[in-house]
Amino acid sequence: MRVDYNNMLSERIGNEGISVADIKAMYPAINKAAKAMEVKRDQMAWRELPYNQAQVVKEIKEYAARTRAQVDAFVVLGIGGSALGPLAVQQALNHPHYNELPRAQRGDMPKLYVVDNIDPERLHCLFEIIDPTRCLFNVISKSGSTSETMSQFMIIQTMLEEKIGKENARKNIVCTTNPKSGNLLAIAKKEGYKTFYIPPGVGGRFSELSPVGLLPAAFCGIDIEGLLEGAAQMDSLCKNEDINQNPAYMYALLHYLAMSQDKNISVLMPYADGLKLIADWYAQLWAESLGKKHDLNGKIVNVGQTPVSALGATDQHSQVQLYTEGPYDKIIVIIGVEEYRASITIPKTYCEMPSLGFLGGHTHNELIHAMQTATEYALAKSGRMNMTITLPKITPQTIGQLLYFFEVATAFAGELLNIDAFDQPGVEEGKDVVYAMFGRPGYDDKKKELNSVPAKDEKFII
Ligand code: PA5
Repeated sequence: MRVDYNNMLSERIGNEGISVADIKAMYPAINKAAKAMEVKRDQMAWRELPYNQAQVVKEIKEYAARTRAQVDAFVVLGIGGSALGPLAVQQALNHPHYNELPRAQRGDMPKLYVVDNIDPERLHCLFEIIDPTRCLFNVISKSGSTSETMSQFMIIQTMLEEKIGKENARKNIVCTTNPKSGNLLAIAKKEGYKTFYIPPGVGGRFSELSPVGLLPAAFCGIDIEGLLEGAAQMDSLCKNEDINQNPAYMYALLHYLAMSQDKNISVLMPYADGLKLIADWYAQLWAESLGKKHDLNGKIVNVGQTPVSALGATDQHSQVQLYTEGPYDKIIVIIGVEEYRASITIPKTYCEMPSLGFLGGHTHNELIHAMQTATEYALAKSGRMNMTITLPKITPQTIGQLLYFFEVATAFAGELLNIDAFDQPGVEEGKDVVYAMFGRPGYDDKKKELNSVPAKDEKFII
């Protein structure tokens, strides 16, 4: 994996860029942040996931091998950090129409569904196409208390028990949660559900390389050891304190400098359909980790950068107009792939129409590479900060590298911003309001607060 940041530099794109002098001026802050990363490494349990999971990987593989033949589908019930990773890795490493393939072409693996919302139509429609008694439901919740996930679990558990009885239903549920506390852990113990654990200190959005992501991936035939191997390779690069040798630190620094120049939007634009959901996974990681009101000293800072996910070449026909001519408020990160896993040649037809015939004989591989180069060029020409991450090929190893790269970059950006990248206090208010509305014990004050809000004025509703 390579990170090319030429087009971030003012030497190349003009005044709106970052100068080499700007980078050098940051060396003291970089050194301080790099030291903090080292000192805090044992608080960042996700950093050890590439190394300390030999036993759990073995258990996951054995469990998947003996269970998968008995189920038609593996269904993830989870949300946020408990869903975006499994979705992203599945899309990156399996066939884009995986569920539609005949089972033999899926390597005898079950289908995968990730139900990461509570839109009633979603579950209702899923029940129209699955036989729940032939599915393995993986309830993933680190806290074990997320209303969306736990309500899905309650619906499915009741349905299964009504259909096949409590004893049999047990085989259709597997839990992934923290090993210390929470409703899901208590339920899993009481009901005797098979359970995998998210190691303490691994936050939701940093958990993809734990059983959160490894279990669904293993059920779908993905090489989970390859993912971890890639992450370990990236970790060895990211230990380097020299920013010029550390791609994740450089990525974070450039985003930090961009933010200080009011580039408050971070676009991630892979030129590969397989990586589209990596951009969604990244959006949560970047947004929830860095969007913070307070710094570590308690000062109000209201920092963060709004992540946007785009897809090349598709969004050249949708968003790139804005990126090249709209406000100078964003940094665009392109992810390219050197070698795609397929090659398609455009036939040499319509040679009599030179304005169309020129395509003939070329491949879509060449065309998408050209589209990517053209976007990089157009952005740079109009003075827009952009950088390119290149994967030699999409493999378990490079996906492991990419995930780990973004995680380290996020943590390092948190250090530069002097904020806590691992909490999410802003998410709590919405959760508390729902608890109060549903009458959860202990939320009476919140209920009173809600009741005291004046009714909305009809005249402002058209
Ligand atoms: O990153 C996070 O911590 C969150 O996005 C969580 O993953 C999300 O809220 C789901 O939480 P849980 O896994 O506890 O159900």
